[in-house]
Amino acid sequence: MSFFRTIKEDIQAVKERDPAAQGSVIIFLTYPGLHARWMHIPEHWLWTHGWRRLARVISQTTRFFTGVEIHPGAQIGRRFFIDHAMGVIIGETTVIGDDCTLYQGVTLGGTGHETGKRHPTLGDNVLVGVGACVLGNVYVGSGSKVGGGAVVVDDVPENSTVVGIPGRVVRRDGKRVADEAAHERSHKEFLPDPEREIETVQNAYIRDLVREVQCLRRVVEERGIEVPCTPAEDRAAKDARAK
Ligand SMILES: CC(C)(COP(=O)(O)OP(=O)(O)OC[C@H]1O[C@@H](n2cnc3c(N)ncnc32)[C@H](O)[C@@H]1OP(=O)(O)O)[C@@H](O)C(=O)NCCC(=O)NCCS
Repeated sequence: MSFFRTIKEDIQAVKERDPAAQGSVIIFLTYPGLHARWMHIPEHWLWTHGWRRLARVISQTTRFFTGVEIHPGAQIGRRFFIDHAMGVIIGETTVIGDDCTLYQGVTLGGTGHETGKRHPTLGDNVLVGVGACVLGNVYVGSGSKVGGGAVVVDDVPENSTVVGIPGRVVRRDGKRVADEAAHERSHKEFLPDPEREIETVQNAYIRDLVREVQCLRRVVEERGIEVPCTPAEDRAAKDARAK
């Protein structure tokens, strides 16, 4: 595919995916994500044709100007769009399908303890939200979305939404996926506990009784009537004598 055709369809992709997009000329001039993506094309060519050092130098220069670091070895599909661009890192063995979108601060990186293919593979039409990290040789299925701020370390099925740390699937094929752990927690919290309820009622009843007895005792004493010891006082007196 010719370079100019790539530019044209990338600009069209921006128009479709960015509600703030203006005319083609402005898009061509002002989207560093596109500039990084276009520069990656010759960088990747140099990398795969044995000019690896030169490819690295040019790629770091691109990073300087765009804030996007795409390793020249990464493989990127058509209509790839990095919105806002700053702080995006794409590792050497990353593979990105067609029609993918990344936002600022995304890392498609390694876990640090893998060799060989150690970066993610994104299917087609994948969206990775702001600041999300997809780490290791994991596969994010076509049509899936990674929520902003998520950290994905496991494969993501197709047409899913994954959010949180570590990333968990919350939607699949448009339907909510039950979070088993959260469900169990909430179930435990709201399940009635009859023994506990009886204990609470009994304790309240005993407290009321004690208060009433104390009240009666005060009234009787005020009238000058001698009150016999309560069983508790009797026991306390016996204990004192025994000592
Ligand atoms: C994940 C995202 C793509 C939405 O996908 P979706 O399939 O439409 O999912 P929903 O909006 O239905 O959300 C599903 C659940 O995930 C939660 N959720 C959504 N995004 C989340 C995120 N980034 N982090 C944590 N939870 C998130 C929702 O609250 C919802 O929870 P609930 O089921 O308990 O109500 C979107 O929220 C997102 O993060 N987009 C990134 C966009 C971005 O980076 N913009 C930057 C512009 S500068």
